[in-house]
Amino acid sequence: MISAIDITKNYTGKDGTIAALGGVSFKVAKGDFVAVIGRSGTGKSTLLGVIGGLLKPSSGEILLDGQSIWNLDEQLRAQIRAQKIGFVFQNASVISSLTVLENVILPQSFLPKPTRSNMPRAKNLLESVGLAHRTHAYPDQLSGGEKRRVAIASALMNAPALLLADEPTGDLDSETELEIMDFFAGLWKSGTTIIMVTHNQQLSNYGNRIFKMDDGIMTESSGQTPTENSLS
Ligand SMILES: Nc1ncnc2c1ncn2[C@@H]1O[C@H](COP(=O)(O)OP(=O)(O)OP(=O)(O)O)[C@@H](O)[C@H]1O
Ligand SMILES: [Mg+2]
Repeated sequence: MISAIDITKNYTGKDGTIAALGGVSFKVAKGDFVAVIGRSGTGKSTLLGVIGGLLKPSSGEILLDGQSIWNLDEQLRAQIRAQKIGFVFQNASVISSLTVLENVILPQSFLPKPTRSNMPRAKNLLESVGLAHRTHAYPDQLSGGEKRRVAIASALMNAPALLLADEPTGDLDSETELEIMDFFAGLWKSGTTIIMVTHNQQLSNYGNRIFKMDDGIMTESSGQTPTENSLS
């Protein structure tokens, strides 16, 4: 499903140049659940942004279902993002002027052929993340963890084949965290490919593969090299 080929990413600013990714290669098969672990500042969010077509790499290539996403024009890349990729950002961004339900439905409008609002799906998703009772609230009226759960439901609205989740349970209590992880496990079982960044060692065992980031270099902790494929 995904091949990353020698990805580098440098940020250049007033502090000089920071090499966030120093040549990362791996393959992720359809149906893999990858946990990405590693210390703060080692390049995990940067990697997710590059895979998700949001952050242009300095060099290297990302193939998604054989298509080189960074060689497409912006419009096509946006289409692929809307159709295939769900993204849960580390800061759980939601739009404050939209209600919870409107936030969840929003990604539908990014599809090339917008379909009629799939209200039942949005409501089901809100129920799955335990927020059915806050459907008409605005984000300002929610706790941090509730906002995060809205962001998760919204990322899943278009039934993406690939879910990229950056610390999706970051500010949740351990009980809610387990509920969300069980929900992710169910998605995985039904065929969604998942790449999840987590600081929580225990959560990394939910998936079938663990990648470790260390100063922009990635290794696979199962002893395989990340270019080998666990399922095929
Ligand atoms: N927009 C940016 N401009 C300049 N430097 C950046 C930018 N974004 C990230 N960096 C730097 O790149 C490196 C990797 O950052 P990144 O956010 O990918 O780390 P991370 O592994 O996700 O960390 P955390 O676990 O704290 O979220 C860090 O040194 C960070 O300071
Ligand atoms: Mg991060």
